[in-house]
Amino acid sequence: MDKMRVGIIGFGNMGQAIAGRIKTNYALSIFEKDKSKIAGLRDIFICSCLSQLSESCEVIILAIKPQDFEPALKDLNSFASGKLFISIAAGITTAYIEKYLPKARLIRVMPNLAATIGEAETCLAKGKYALDNDMHLARRIFDLVGKTWIMPEDLINAATAISGSGPAYIFYDLESRGIDGSHLPEGLIEEYIQRLTEAARSVGFDEQTALELATSTTYSSIHLASCDDPAELRKKVTSKAGTTAAALKILSAGGSWVLAAGAAIKRAEELSR
Ligand SMILES: NC(=O)c1ccc[n+]([C@@H]2O[C@H](COP(=O)([O-])OP(=O)(O)OC[C@H]3O[C@@H](n4cnc5c(N)ncnc54)[C@H](OP(=O)(O)O)[C@@H]3O)[C@@H](O)[C@H]2O)c1
Repeated sequence: MDKMRVGIIGFGNMGQAIAGRIKTNYALSIFEKDKSKIAGLRDIFICSCLSQLSESCEVIILAIKPQDFEPALKDLNSFASGKLFISIAAGITTAYIEKYLPKARLIRVMPNLAATIGEAETCLAKGKYALDNDMHLARRIFDLVGKTWIMPEDLINAATAISGSGPAYIFYDLESRGIDGSHLPEGLIEEYIQRLTEAARSVGFDEQTALELATSTTYSSIHLASCDDPAELRKKVTSKAGTTAAALKILSAGGSWVLAAGAAIKRAEELSR
């Protein structure tokens, strides 16, 4: 049987990470503006324009930065009918996307950089017009990328602050304390879990979800940091003027992870407008 074709718009840090994990199970089409990122790719169909991608794919993953959404959605409007859209952008609500793609079937997800090693924490929420089967399909796709949690959309900004931006709190802490990610002092993992759980509770997660998300995010981030430089990892998870950048500003001024998570949510809400 032919594999279902999934399109990914934007082949940066996250688009590449997701593609790397799902390409065995799905036929992939990519559209990326920066041609240097797609040079020499194999096993993946490179589209020359958005219409070529949307005509050939049943599912379209929007992996571009929040500030690039408006022009992309305007371009997609005439090809949107009958597609399932999955957005991974921080702060972009399904209501915002529906302004440009009326009645589109949308799933909003928040994954993280641990997608590169198949250990992402991904939180998923259904848009108004998405069907239960759409959520099952989105979950199947992101189960290939790591662990998944389904939640109402009003918790996705909170997820952005914890599992989306949370890895940066850990990378920044390792970096600023000069700790090598492959030789952690005793007790540090427990310390990170406790600090991230406290931050997760403060942004509205119940006790169990807060502990699960914080524990999983800590272990996957530490796993990433055991084979890569924390400073480089921090850069990869920090988009300019994004939610993580807002949180890091608080941390660099000596603020707690609770305050950093609050700043990430506030930035996500600003991006939603
Ligand atoms: N990085 C993370 O850890 C993380 C975690 C969770 C969620 N996210 C979300 O994931 C999204 C992508 O983040 P990222 O870090 O992967 O960004 P990124 O590395 O900048 O990748 C986005 C890519 O999309 C390209 N692009 C922009 N507009 C396009 C269009 N209309 N069509 C095709 N390609 C286009 C960009 O090209 P140019 O650079 O030339 O504009 C860039 O190469 C963001 O919305 C972010 O909020 C990121």
